Amino acid sequence: MVTFMEDIYEKAKKKPAKVVLPEGNDERTVEAAVKATQLGIAKVVMLGNPDKIKQIASEKKLSLDGIEIIDIDNLPNLDEYANEFYEIRKAKGMTLEEAKNIMKRDVYYGAMMVRKGIVDTFVAGAMNTTSDVSRAAIYLIGMKEGIKTLSSFFVMILPDKSFGKDGILFYSDGGLVIDPDPEQLSDIAVTTGATYRELIGEEPRIAMLSFSTKGSAKHARIDKVTKALELAKKKDPTLIIDGEMQADAALIPAVGAKKAPGSPVAGKATVLIFPDLDSGNIAYKLTERLAKAEAYGPIYQGTKRPCSDLSRGCKASDIVNVIAINVVRLSKIN
Ligand SMILES: CC(C)(COP(=O)(O)OP(=O)(O)OC[C@H]1O[C@@H](n2cnc3c(N)ncnc32)[C@H](O)[C@@H]1OP(=O)(O)O)[C@@H](O)C(=O)NCCC(=O)NCCS
Repeated sequence: MVTFMEDIYEKAKKKPAKVVLPEGNDERTVEAAVKATQLGIAKVVMLGNPDKIKQIASEKKLSLDGIEIIDIDNLPNLDEYANEFYEIRKAKGMTLEEAKNIMKRDVYYGAMMVRKGIVDTFVAGAMNTTSDVSRAAIYLIGMKEGIKTLSSFFVMILPDKSFGKDGILFYSDGGLVIDPDPEQLSDIAVTTGATYRELIGEEPRIAMLSFSTKGSAKHARIDKVTKALELAKKKDPTLIIDGEMQADAALIPAVGAKKAPGSPVAGKATVLIFPDLDSGNIAYKLTERLAKAEAYGPIYQGTKRPCSDLSRGCKASDIVNVIAINVVRLSKIN
């Protein structure tokens, strides 16, 4: 059977996209650029010091053929980009001088390249902080129509294929939004549904998780989830979504039938939406360790064009995986 990632790589090869990797001075990024190019999943542009990049490639005996390198100390169109950034941020008090300084930074310049349509996506975060990567995405790529919240998702691949879709579950948000309000939580649900459609090609079944199922307990935290459910249904009336429900009601058919009879989601959820970052982050790590699941993410979602953060502890193969996933998502919106 073809695995989730094998399927992603096959799809990415059919419609490669142009990606900028802003952190070209990073060894893992150079390795990932070479790998993505050799696999034929992307046309790669790297920002960095050309001598340093060439030195890394030569030490690792890697060929940079087919990869474009832009010198970070001699960035084209810098004044034009800085002016555009200033126009975007001046109402928030940014000066032109500040805009110029920020625009020289790799991740912001890379995000501007996406904004200008020079590349299709950026993948960064091996060296930059989540705060910088997320600001670059929010300010320069911007959010999809109707969505205000940048969030992230994990694809979890479980050895037990009885869960989700043949063992595949999407979790959100385990990486970004710390304490979403109902509006943000509804954005997270709607966006994860859209991401699931892009990557799996089927309708998701979305469970809005809580410590209560269908009113079994009463608390303001449960009200937050039910309010988010109501808002998500308004934002995308086609979604198959239900809640509030406990994780066992979402995943186990017998429990779902008992606790949430008639639910279109209970017992067969493919997407789990967690009420906050505590539960989302803890759940993905427990699933990874205790259930021996593979976890891909956190990958950004909600921006006009896909882009993504990385963990600073990432491996080159993680970067290639994220590139491939973003290339497939792009192929669905182009
Ligand atoms: C996303 C995150 C990094 C942003 O933090 P930050 O840089 O301090 O951001 P701020 O709160 O100062 O907001 C910066 C801007 O982005 C906006 N913003 C912040 N989070 C946003 C989101 N999720 N979606 C859309 N916009 C957002 C803010 O409104 C603000 O806009 P403004 O400058 O126009 O007023 C923050 O949510 C965070 O730290 N999350 C936890 C990440 C983490 O530790 N994960 C670990 C598990 S992997």
